Amino acid sequence: MRILSGVQPSGPLHLGNYFGAIQQHIELQEGNEAFYFIANYHAMTTVHDPELLSRYTHEVAVDYLALGLDPTRAVLFRQSDVPEVQELAWILATVTGKGLLDRAHSYKDKIQRGIVPSMGLYYYPVLMAADILLYRADQVPVGQDQVQHIEMTQDMAQSFNHTYRTDVLKRPEPRLNRAARVPGIDGEKMSKSYHNTIGIFEPPGEAKKKIMSIKTDSTPVADPKDPARCNVLALLRLLAGPEEVADWEDRYRKGGVGYGQVKTRLYELYEERFAPLRERRERLAADRDYVEDILRQGARRARAEAHLLLEQVWMAVGLPRRRQG
Ligand code: TYM
Repeated sequence: MRILSGVQPSGPLHLGNYFGAIQQHIELQEGNEAFYFIANYHAMTTVHDPELLSRYTHEVAVDYLALGLDPTRAVLFRQSDVPEVQELAWILATVTGKGLLDRAHSYKDKIQRGIVPSMGLYYYPVLMAADILLYRADQVPVGQDQVQHIEMTQDMAQSFNHTYRTDVLKRPEPRLNRAARVPGIDGEKMSKSYHNTIGIFEPPGEAKKKIMSIKTDSTPVADPKDPARCNVLALLRLLAGPEEVADWEDRYRKGGVGYGQVKTRLYELYEERFAPLRERRERLAADRDYVEDILRQGARRARAEAHLLLEQVWMAVGLPRRRQG
């Protein structure tokens, strides 16, 4: 099966990115053809500092490798290293109704949070559809917040195929992890733009501070608590084994558990999971050439795939064929 997904380099990656998407990206590299890319064109809708954009792009690559991406199995590349995606996006835009983009939740949500409503932000789902369709992806592992974008991609593929009486573009399906919507420290969806994240690779002191500040209600320690409504437990479920989770749930229902206790355990679990990877991450971060080399090789493989698809698209729409430069 062909798997494809992308992550924006718009800041340090957080537990929402990990449990919503990256964890399954790593798992799916076994037994599938996996393509993962760093969506630096997309990040330009919010990051306008050139140094930051290139630093975050490099850091996402380093994080993926530290988290277990194996470049001999999966193709890891930078979106902008395959500029053909912009051409496919334009072609898709010509068969996409404006009404479809008007309905995008993510666009409305972002402008509500003060992000400039640029044409790029509006066009974002078209570029994302091109990312997916360019590689004929079967499945796109993402968090819940991206599902509508994939449904829009399905619509655009159908519209293109219908307009040109072809089946060149393949319908992709979203693939959700168990944790499709990871809450942040305030209980809202964890998101860079909500300032409620816990990073995957926080300095130890920082992570502790953030975990201890997770919002909880004011139920006294002795009282029973509803395990379904606790932000700390929601995060602990992602890191602890099933028996431990069941035990905490039981104790919540009986009463006598203080939130401080659960937060302390959550921090321990976070450290157990991510501290061993920190060292690997530091080594990778220091070896720019190695990481750059992986990205360049990834781009070569991705570009070859992209070119195969574009050739068929050119033919379908009546554009002249070109040789890959
Ligand atoms: P981005 O960079 O916002 O997030 C990367 C991935 O992390 C998931 N995610 C979450 N999952 C669960 N709970 C959360 N709190 C949470 N926060 C983030 C996202 O759903 C996503 O899977 N538009 C995409 C990037 C993109 C893309 C693509 C993805 C561009 N082209 C093509 C797939 C295919 C985005 O902004 O993700």
